[in-house]
Amino acid sequence: MASSEPANATAFWNPFANMATLAGHAITIVRGEGSTVYDSQGNAYLDALASLWYCNVGYGRPELAETAAAQMREIAGFQTFEYYTNPPADALCRLIADLAPMAGAKVFLTPGGGSDAVDTAGKLARAYWHAAGQPDRQVIISRTHAYHGMNAYGTSLSGIPLLTESYAPLVSQVEHVPWDDPGALEKAIELLGAGRVAAFFCEPVMGAGGVYPPPEGYLDQVRQICRRHDVLFVADEVITGYGRTGQWFASGRFGLDPDLITTAKGLSSGYLPIGAVIASARVAEPFWSHGGAEVFRHGYTYSGHPVAAAVALANLRLIEREQLIARVRALEPVLARAVAPLAAHPAVSEVRSGTGLLAAVEIAEELRAADPAVGQRLVLAIRERGVITRLLRGVALQVSPPFVITEAEIARIAEAFASALDDAARPNRG
Ligand SMILES: Cc1ncc(COP(=O)(O)O)c(C=O)c1O
Repeated sequence: MASSEPANATAFWNPFANMATLAGHAITIVRGEGSTVYDSQGNAYLDALASLWYCNVGYGRPELAETAAAQMREIAGFQTFEYYTNPPADALCRLIADLAPMAGAKVFLTPGGGSDAVDTAGKLARAYWHAAGQPDRQVIISRTHAYHGMNAYGTSLSGIPLLTESYAPLVSQVEHVPWDDPGALEKAIELLGAGRVAAFFCEPVMGAGGVYPPPEGYLDQVRQICRRHDVLFVADEVITGYGRTGQWFASGRFGLDPDLITTAKGLSSGYLPIGAVIASARVAEPFWSHGGAEVFRHGYTYSGHPVAAAVALANLRLIEREQLIARVRALEPVLARAVAPLAAHPAVSEVRSGTGLLAAVEIAEELRAADPAVGQRLVLAIRERGVITRLLRGVALQVSPPFVITEAEIARIAEAFASALDDAARPNRG
């Protein structure tokens, strides 16, 4: 095919990037070790993000690479539609069901990450009600600031206008309520009529919307409201699942007993893409009960992929063996103490932390209004200081490091933030 472009011109289209300015200037990451990644120029970066909230066991784990290679030699891939399974997928689902904070759980594996898990959970919630003889229960309620991935269901459920405005409406039968107001949820259910509502989607700690730990009592109240109206409670734990809040699941930490949990990211620490929807005994029942005829007509070519499942299993065992979730609990106050002083900075309006290895530093509104580019400039200034972060919803800087991060590295993150904020707050910067 004839081309007017130079032979080495990039054709890689980055997600969420302005290719007009980025093309040819992206940083090429070539290697990682612990909480540090290296680019093709040999620069080292401390990764305050665990990539995108996922590299929980840290970079450069040879045993996960070896697990993948060994499984590929046995059988790299074989489908799981209808009749087939494989040992890693079976073992992984057993382990996830045993770790899940609900009794009698069943596990549906998804191939591509959290977005597939969210679409699967949305469809399963509706399929459940169809099977349970209440097919009018089709509406799914989510929250402002919510992020539920980028497939059609997740985009429709998102409570971040910037992410939906080019596409909405996509999936119909979706409603939003304010992220922090249990009364608004109850009112929405009553207005719609409980007989029309299938589920409420809830990140126990909101992530991509800006790291919002739940307001005191919020989760208890919405959980009770869902019970009262028999609305399925879906905990989207794509970020919080597998340890990030200091327990295997945030649903366990907050005593939620969800009907469904969506997970991905930390399931494999990103060594291969894989996700899982965990269904409570109640949701599974119509599809699993003896003599039943209900079929969940849903699945992906790579559902239960043996290599991804083997790597996820090895990743969870590694988390258990190295007691990394206890480490998250120990580091929770360390991170909170390290970022707390940033709240007093004139360029900062709020620091949110205190739930596991999750924090956000929100940039003062006046500063953002006066200088809309300040957030991205801060991200770059922090990177110049050797630390990778990013901007959430245009307002807050993300901190979600690997579980293996050291106390000294946490201190380095806070120092890089403070020094970059000092520059940003200085008047008349050139
Ligand atoms: C809560 C939540 N749900 C779903 C997703 C989508 O996951 P993925 O990007 O792996 O498709 C994300 C991604 O950040 C997420 O944070």
